[in-house]
Amino acid sequence: MITESTSPTLESLSAQLAGLNEVDALRKLTELFPGQVVFSTSLGYEDQVITDLIARNELPVRLFTLDTGRMFGETYSVWNKTLSRYGLPIETMFPDQAKIEQLMTAKGPYSMYESVDNRKECCFIRKVEPLNRALAGQKIWITGIRAEQSNNRHDMTQLEWDEAHQLFKFHPLMNWSFDDVKAYVKEHNVPYNPLHDKGFVSIGCQPCTRAIQPGEDFRAGRWWWEDNSKKECGLHTHEEVFKP
Ligand code: ADX
Ligand code: SF4
Repeated sequence: MITESTSPTLESLSAQLAGLNEVDALRKLTELFPGQVVFSTSLGYEDQVITDLIARNELPVRLFTLDTGRMFGETYSVWNKTLSRYGLPIETMFPDQAKIEQLMTAKGPYSMYESVDNRKECCFIRKVEPLNRALAGQKIWITGIRAEQSNNRHDMTQLEWDEAHQLFKFHPLMNWSFDDVKAYVKEHNVPYNPLHDKGFVSIGCQPCTRAIQPGEDFRAGRWWWEDNSKKECGLHTHEEVFKP
C-alpha cells in the first residue's frame, strides 16, 4: 500500500506495471492504492469490456458515470442491462443543478451548435465539473481510451500523470484495436449499446453524436460541425478548455 509521503513517480509506477496484462495491472493498482481506484464508464464498447474485466476478476474498483442529461435512450438501456448482468453499482454524477438551470434558461437546449465557446460551456457544466467531483481524493482514474481513436490519443501512454486532477490515469485497452474490442464483447456476450450496430463508434451525448460512414475517422461522429483539432470535450485534454 502507498501512502501520501511515498507516492510513486510516473516512472516507478510504470516500471511496476511493465509486462503485466490488463487484469494484473489493474489488480496491482488496486493493491497499491486500496479504495482509491475509480473507473469512469460512458457505457460505450470499450468501457463495457473494462466493466466485464472488473466484474469477472472481482477487482475492487469503483465505477462511476457522468449522466449529462442528454444521453441516448439506448445508453440508458445498456446501463440498465449492465446493472442486471454484473450487479456492480455505477455511481452517477449529475451536473450542478443551479448551473444547468441557468444555462438552459439563458441559452436553451441547443446552444452548443452556435459557437465552440457555447459547446465547451455545456461540456464543462455537464461533464467536466461533475468529473472533477467524482475524481476528488482518488489516486487512479481508469478510462477506456485507445490509441487508435485519434491522433491526440495516439500520443498518450497507458499510464499517465494527470496534473489537473493530481492522479494517475490508466488506460488498460490503450493498445487494443477496435477488432480486439469487438471480439471480446462477442466472446463474453457483454451487453453493448445497440447504436454500435448502426455506425456509431464513439457515443456521447445525443445532440453531439452521429453515426460515421465507412472509412471516416473514429471521432468523425463527435461534434462533427467543428474542425478536427477541437474534438475533445475537456475530460481528457491536457490544457484548460473552458473558464467558467
Ligand atoms: S470524450 O472525451 O470524447 O467524451 P470518449 O467518449 O472518447 O470521451 O470516451 C473516452 C473515455 O472517457 C471513456 O472510456 C470513459 O472512461 C470516459 N468517459 C467519456 N464519457 C463519459 C461519461 N459520460 N461518463 C463517464 N466516463 C466517460
Ligand atoms: Fe453538451 Fe454536447 Fe458536450 Fe454533451 S457533448 S455536454 S450535449 S456540448
